[in-house]
Amino acid sequence: MEFEADQITLLGELGEGQFGKVYKARARFVNDYQGSTIVAVKTVKAHASSEVRDDMLKELRMMMRLLDPHPNVVTLLGYCTKSDPVMLVVEYVPNGDLLSFLRKDRTVRNVTYANLHTESRTLQNTDLISFAWQVSKGMCYLASMQCIHRDLAARNVLVGEHKTCKVSDFGLAREGPEYKKIKDSPLPLRWMAPETLSIDRLYTTKSDVWSFGVLLYEIVTLGSTPYPTMTAQQAAEKIQRGLKLQKPAHCTDDLYFIMENCWHFLPNERPPFSELSAALSRLIMDEKDHIMLNQYDEHQYANLERSAEEVC
Ligand code: ADE
Repeated sequence: MEFEADQITLLGELGEGQFGKVYKARARFVNDYQGSTIVAVKTVKAHASSEVRDDMLKELRMMMRLLDPHPNVVTLLGYCTKSDPVMLVVEYVPNGDLLSFLRKDRTVRNVTYANLHTESRTLQNTDLISFAWQVSKGMCYLASMQCIHRDLAARNVLVGEHKTCKVSDFGLAREGPEYKKIKDSPLPLRWMAPETLSIDRLYTTKSDVWSFGVLLYEIVTLGSTPYPTMTAQQAAEKIQRGLKLQKPAHCTDDLYFIMENCWHFLPNERPPFSELSAALSRLIMDEKDHIMLNQYDEHQYANLERSAEEVC
């Protein structure tokens, strides 16, 4: 649905997206006499190249193909292509990105332990597995719509009310068919499957599965940076030679098995999202602590700031 610019009032900045600033905004819908809705608006940088504008319009086209809203995917509400900058209007997801959400929990956890309070304010094992399960369901839906995400990571998942996870940022997503190459651009190397790091840069739903495994690792380690002792370039070289992330000591073999399956060198050996979703829901049901947070060793999981070198 096309918005007129005067239907949207920007309220404040939410952050910087891959195209430009993201704002919290109030949108007045035509025929909506009830008032207005809080939304998120993605804009394109003032002096963006036509390529960046094209990428945003591609994101828009991709999102328009997702006909039914899915609870675990950020929903497109509209767009304003007549305005300068072009605006993408999406549902507002109030609790920020999953990476910050996980890292914030580390701080709360330290303070809580220091004060000998209960753990009630911190994330529990079931919350964490549920995050992973929800993302797998969102990805299952995207895969069913032939959408390849290409940048699946905790920073690109948003957290809504009642700890709902929503896959976001289709910036690198491209329409089907399954196999496509993209032009040179800075890349999220630590999350990338070996075949996407090779010269051909072949992206498929199976390379999204690899990234999902890395996202699972981020969840289990409360937002650590994968391969923290290496530069992104070193990690990329080793991933191409078969390197995999090791099992965190506080994670069960069952959960690591799911993660590790995402990192089969051969894409076709990796499970589909439907299978990952079923496996994670079994872990939720079995009422065992698959992430033993009482054994979580903060010092082992460096939480490096993202550097420009690795993420666009
Ligand atoms: N930051 C980026 N996208 C957002 C959204 N849809 N809701 C809230 N914050 C965001």
